[in-house]
Amino acid sequence: MTSILDIRGVSKHFGGLRALDNVHLALEPDKLHAIIGPNGAGKTTLFNCITGTLPATSGSILFRGRDISGLAPHTISQMGLARTLQIKSVFDALSVEDNIWIAAESRRGVFRPFARVRDDKETADKVAAVLEETGLSAMRGETAGTLSYGDVALLEIAIALATEPSLLLLDEPICGMGPAETKDTIARIRRLSQRVDIVIIEHDMPTVFDLADEITVMVQGGVIAKGPPEAIAENADVREAYLGDEEVAHA
Ligand SMILES: Nc1ncnc2c1ncn2[C@@H]1O[C@H](COP(=O)(O)OP(=O)(O)OP(=O)(O)O)[C@@H](O)[C@H]1O
Ligand SMILES: [Mg+2]
Repeated sequence: MTSILDIRGVSKHFGGLRALDNVHLALEPDKLHAIIGPNGAGKTTLFNCITGTLPATSGSILFRGRDISGLAPHTISQMGLARTLQIKSVFDALSVEDNIWIAAESRRGVFRPFARVRDDKETADKVAAVLEETGLSAMRGETAGTLSYGDVALLEIAIALATEPSLLLLDEPICGMGPAETKDTIARIRRLSQRVDIVIIEHDMPTVFDLADEITVMVQGGVIAKGPPEAIAENADVREAYLGDEEVAHA
């Protein structure tokens, strides 16, 4: 079975800092994967190296068996790999719908960000489907800059989905959401995982243990454990190195 992602000995150094230190990690398809680890463990850096946002210092990365090391972010995106950012970034001045429209066009290579013509049925259908799937239909005309933090996070997911990914990397998608929004977003992510492979970075342990089929634990630039939630909760290295007995026990 070909891995969705096969990370082979990837390191990323920032000067003397080893943000990633010889990471080996293969993620199987048809599972919802979570990556956890304390602040500064290298989780976001790993996403940055996978998406081509940052060049790895060494090592290689295969996406569904194809070597994507060194490719430009837009090339990797067009191969079907999308991500959301930990620090949310949408076009504040544009409407929800226009933000998604731009992403949908970028996938198809017809980038016309300020085109006022909405004559492209294929893109229109795609945008409508994404609005529906993320629950943003009612907010389609609202200016993105006026949205709540949680709705911006949803819009980020919508923008990523508009590029028609087969693999979606989510960097703390529920951070800043209230309990109701969190519950709703988790349900959406679970539904989405039926048709798109998902890797989620998340700090909230109850969410991770509820959502993930497989959990990877990173500490100080390395992977210290990988396995199903039950095994991770009982893993002595994980307890000692990161979570603290209590937090895992109550997850
Ligand atoms: N562009 C950069 N330049 C220099 N150092 C960086 C850069 N990006 C990340 N780092 C450093 O690399 C280390 C790993 O950071 P990273 O953002 O990947 O951690 P993280 O696991 O995502 O943490 P968090 O849970 O806080 O988001 C940190 O020490 C961070 O300060
Ligand atoms: Mg991070």
